[in-house]
Amino acid sequence: MMSPLLIRRVRLGAAFVLLTYLILHFTNHALGLISLEAMEAGRRWFLALWRNPLGTLALYGAITVHGALALWLLYQRRSLRMPAWEATQYGLGLALPALLAIHVVATRIAWWQLGADDPYARILLGYWVIAPARGGWQAIALVVAWTHACLGVHYWLRFRPWYPRVVMALFAVALLLPTLALAGYVAAGHEVVTLDRTAGWRQELVRVTHAPNPAQSARLVEIRTAFLDAYLLALVGVFAARGVRHVWRRRWSIRIVYPGERVVTVPVGFTILEASRVARIPHASVCGGRGRCSTCRVHVTRGLGDLPAPSEAEQRVLARVGAAPDVRLACQTHPVRDVNVTPLLAPSTAPVDALAADVRQGRERELAVLFADLRGFTRMAEPKLPYDVVFVLNRYFETVGTAITRAGGVTNQFIGDGVMALFGIDDGPAAGSRQALAAARAMVDGIAALSAELADDLPSPLRIGIGVHAGPAVVGRMGWGQSFYLTAVGDTVHVAARLEQATKDYNAELVVSEDVGRYAGVDLSAFRRDDLAVRNRGARVAVRVIARVAELP
Ligand code: FES
Repeated sequence: MMSPLLIRRVRLGAAFVLLTYLILHFTNHALGLISLEAMEAGRRWFLALWRNPLGTLALYGAITVHGALALWLLYQRRSLRMPAWEATQYGLGLALPALLAIHVVATRIAWWQLGADDPYARILLGYWVIAPARGGWQAIALVVAWTHACLGVHYWLRFRPWYPRVVMALFAVALLLPTLALAGYVAAGHEVVTLDRTAGWRQELVRVTHAPNPAQSARLVEIRTAFLDAYLLALVGVFAARGVRHVWRRRWSIRIVYPGERVVTVPVGFTILEASRVARIPHASVCGGRGRCSTCRVHVTRGLGDLPAPSEAEQRVLARVGAAPDVRLACQTHPVRDVNVTPLLAPSTAPVDALAADVRQGRERELAVLFADLRGFTRMAEPKLPYDVVFVLNRYFETVGTAITRAGGVTNQFIGDGVMALFGIDDGPAAGSRQALAAARAMVDGIAALSAELADDLPSPLRIGIGVHAGPAVVGRMGWGQSFYLTAVGDTVHVAARLEQATKDYNAELVVSEDVGRYAGVDLSAFRRDDLAVRNRGARVAVRVIARVAELP
């Protein structure tokens, strides 16, 4: 069976051939604005390109491959819930064979089977005089084909770093070309209507083009009907096969657990993203589940070992964003056993934030940075076996990591028993500060619960110190080899680390800068205020000392 990557490439190649055909065909139509004669002269070049054996193979090969793969992918999708743009593109694409059947049979098939020539004059006579309803139908087909193609191009190119620079120019072309084509179609149509008033013109046209006689026309209608029946049958077959598969697979269901203990039960074979869509759980998927953007990635908090290994394509995307080993692409992962996951990016994530190459190069953003550290853990760990230390630390990292991601942050680095997290990378410092304070509260609660659970193994309850500061920082993917992380550097990070250290001096659970309270819109005036000196920094930082996080408003 073809790999998803190969399917995508073959489909893209076929789409490119079809797009080229469409652009040239529309350009040819637009020549109607000059004259019917100019249109016809353009058509001769057009036919020289597409009606030779090679052009025929390229065009009809592309139509067959593109259509067959679309039906195959429709069968493969576990859920038909999809973003509106994708549903539109699918719907328009599936409607095209039915819309274009009349035109293709009347031109190419009539030429191929009956030797009937199909100059613009004869075709336009049909659309403007003999059967105007078909002319309207053909204009609709033109717009549908073009919209389908433009959606495809847009969603294919939008991850390219240069795309934002050219998108408006492409948009202008996308509007202009079909408009000119339709205008040419109308202008040439009027010319044909006028010519048809000339005595004998129509008869001569029918004679020289060997237009089909009534019996031949009936034969063409039969061909068209057979094609439409076959297409309808293929569509029904795909949906029937989906239904059979669904019933069959329902016997093996798995549970996907999301943050907040939300459980979604789906048949084996669903991707995690499809499970999210079925359960209407907001889940970022900028590329529509094609495994290209990485925005659907999830932190797998349980069941990682039971997941099928990532494909080569998934590995490549994960490596591009420097994902940790317990991160997977939701759209590419088909769990076969129960699994717990936490989506890592906000559902509103846009293409520009999809951690493409531009983020790797670094950007200045305003965000909130949190540092946390276990108090006295080194002393506590000394009498313990290494295995016990690793066990407790891993439980601690799970607890704080879950609290951070659930609050909307990104766990950035685990260093010893400390952790650094970023909040508001996408949403700015106000949302980031609120998220960081929520995470601090959840972390302290989580640590208290963990201490109670491990009470028999711990000499005293675990305690944590947290520092939070907000402001500008350079955010980007940094590291080397396998160790590539989304991280931040700059004064804001430096200050946040200092505030975490200050929790020891103040014997407090949380120290935040006044900026954090201001951004978050939280009144911290009830807490002790201090001006803290920070090494290598001239200005002191105004901070609030919160002895017990539970006291936060
Ligand atoms: S939705 Fe884009 S990679 Fe999964």
